[in-house]
Amino acid sequence: MDSIYGTRYQDLEEIMNFILDEINKVREETLANSDSDPIEHIIYRIKSENSMIGKLKRKGLPLTAESATESVYDAVGIRVVCAFLKDVYMICDHLKCMDGCEVVEEKDYIKHAKANGYRSYHLILRVNDKGYAEIQLRTISQDTWAALEHNIHYKKEKTEMEKLIAEELKRCADELASTDLSMQTIRDMIENAERSIDQ
Ligand code: GTP
Ligand code: MG
Repeated sequence: MDSIYGTRYQDLEEIMNFILDEINKVREETLANSDSDPIEHIIYRIKSENSMIGKLKRKGLPLTAESATESVYDAVGIRVVCAFLKDVYMICDHLKCMDGCEVVEEKDYIKHAKANGYRSYHLILRVNDKGYAEIQLRTISQDTWAALEHNIHYKKEKTEMEKLIAEELKRCADELASTDLSMQTIRDMIENAERSIDQ
């Protein structure tokens, strides 16, 4: 058991399992109704002891189980990666309406991309009054970009070279966003065609 969380570790596991179960329910319902899987993959974790201590120190918070679970909201982190944009919003809408959950924070970095090009939908939920979870929902393209950008470790926009790298990364993010829109349009066309054959 991670000691920074003390006896709260079990609450965090319960929160994570509760959300994962809900996500799996929507996934199975969608699969049964449309024969297509809305989720490409899911990753999840309870923040490691070292990362949590680092975050508490950065934020000037006491190194206690109370602040690790009540003042930091991402002790539980879940990332849902979907093939299509509409699936991101479908899963997100479902998570926002779960019984016993309250939306504490919501950031739509898909409609409002960060200046560097980062796109993703971030939700912070308070779950069954036990604690918090951060859920990031994104498309495969958005996930690819975030993973590569995270990997690059470039210094932020000081020299001409660094400015150029930032511009190129932003350009890649925008191109991927445009591809996401095209892929969604293609899938909508296929679904509409199938629906008109069924009628
Ligand atoms: P916290 O104090 O950590 O809650 O920061 P915040 O609320 O200002 O952060 P935000 O909700 O915007 O982002 C939190 C998480 O989103 C990060 O830990 C990353 O996983 C992801 N993220 C946000 N911005 C970027 C980015 O520019 N690039 C990548 N690769 N990931 C990002
Ligand atoms: Mg945050």
